[in-house]
Amino acid sequence: MIALSNEVYIIGAGETKFGELWDKSLRNLAVEAGLKAIEDAGIYSRDIGVIYGANSLAGIINKQENIGALITDFSGLSEDGIPSLRVESSTASGAAALREAYLSIKSGEYDVAVVGGVEKMTDIHGSDILEKLSSILDREWEAFFGATPAAMAALIARKYMHDFNVEKEALSMFSVNDHANSSKNPDAQFRNKLTLQQAMNAVEVADPLNLMDCSPLSDGAAALVLASEDFMKKNKREGVHILSSAVAEDYLSVGSRKSIYTLSSTKLAAEKVFQKAKIKRDDISFMEIHDSFSIYGLLEMEDLGFAEKGKAKDLVYDDIKLNGRLPVNPSGGLKAKGDPYGAVGVGQAVDAYRQLKGVAGANQIKNARYALLHNMAGTGTSSIIHILGE
Ligand code: COA
Repeated sequence: MIALSNEVYIIGAGETKFGELWDKSLRNLAVEAGLKAIEDAGIYSRDIGVIYGANSLAGIINKQENIGALITDFSGLSEDGIPSLRVESSTASGAAALREAYLSIKSGEYDVAVVGGVEKMTDIHGSDILEKLSSILDREWEAFFGATPAAMAALIARKYMHDFNVEKEALSMFSVNDHANSSKNPDAQFRNKLTLQQAMNAVEVADPLNLMDCSPLSDGAAALVLASEDFMKKNKREGVHILSSAVAEDYLSVGSRKSIYTLSSTKLAAEKVFQKAKIKRDDISFMEIHDSFSIYGLLEMEDLGFAEKGKAKDLVYDDIKLNGRLPVNPSGGLKAKGDPYGAVGVGQAVDAYRQLKGVAGANQIKNARYALLHNMAGTGTSSIIHILGE
C-alpha cells in the first residue's frame, strides 16, 4: 500500500444550535453552519475544491433528496460548479462525510474541502417519526416486527446488565455527565443539569431505558473546512491536525452478531485508528462518543479499549467528568447536546476543534492535546473514528 503523506487539517468550524428549530428549514440550517465554518476559516468560494454533505433521513422526513445540489444552490455556489456530494451512512453520516473529505485531500485531488452535516427531524412526531427512525435498523428482520432503535438498545442493555451485574445507576450516571456538560454549551438542545434521582426516575421508554437514557429528536447542522498542509502554510492559516481516520462494519441485524453487547465495528475501527495515529490510549485528552442511548456510552468506552467488558461502570462517576481522568462528551453528547443524525459526527469535530484550539469557553479542558471522535451508525452497524490533535 502506498502511504500518502499529504497531512490534513481542520481550519474552520461552525454549527447551528441543536434543538427543535421550527423556524429554520433544512436548507437554512445547512447554509448557516456552512457559512460560519467558511468565515471561521477565512476562505473564499474560489478556494473550495469539493463539498461533502452528510444527511441521513431528509428523503423520508422532509421529502428532499439531492442534498448536494440543495446546499450549493442555496449557498450561492452553483455558478462555480463546485462538486457537492451527499454522504449517507445512517447516524454515522457526519463522520463518513468527514472521512471522505479527509481522503479527498490525502489523495492529492483537492486542497480544500467543506464538510457539512444537517438533519431536520422535528417537523413530524409520534409514531410517524418513530417509523422513519426505525429505517436505520434491518427493516425485514427488526423494524417489521415493531423494533425501534430504543427497543434494540433496551434489549442490549438488559442482557449486558444481567451478564455483568451492572445496575441502572451506571447508565443514568452517563446521562448525568452529559447534562452537566451541556449546561455549559450554548449550542446544546438541553441546558439543564440532571440529578441522579431525576435520571433514574424519568418516564419509561423501553425498559430498562427511560427518557433520560435516550437522545432526543433534534434539528441542527454543523460544518468544517479541511485543508491540505500546503494550503494552510501558503495561506498562513492555523489548523487542527487530523491524525487518523478509520471505519469498520458489523452485521446490520443485531441478531446476527456473536455478542449483542460487543460493538465489533467499534473494536475494529479503534484498533486501526490508534495504529495509524501512532499514539496510545493514554495520550487521549478527551472523547466525544456516540451515546444515542446511555447503554452505548458504556459499551463504547469498553470497545474503544478504555475499560474491560462489563467494567465501564467504574468510569462513570468521576473519570468521565469534564475535570476527570478521561473527559467524555464535553459537548453534552447526543443525549444532551442533541442528535440531529447527519450533523452529529461533524458537530463532534466542531467541538473537538474548539477544544484543541483552546476556545471551548466554559467547557474548555485544560491542556487538551488529542481528541478521539466516535460516530456510530444505528445499533453499531458502522463505527467511524477520528483522532485529532497536534
Ligand atoms: N431527553 C430529555 N428530554 C426529552 C427527551 C430526551 N431524550 N425527549 C423529549 N424530551 C422532552 C421534551 O423536550 C419535552 O419537554 P417539555 O414538555 O418540557 O417541552 C417532553 O420531553 C416531551 O417531548 P416529546 O417530543 O413529546 O417527547 P416524545 O415522547 O415524543 O419523544 C422519545 C421522546 C424518547 C420517544 C424521543 O426523544 C425518541 O424517540 N428518542 C430516541 C431517538 C432515537 O431513536 N434515536 C436513534 C438513535 S440510533
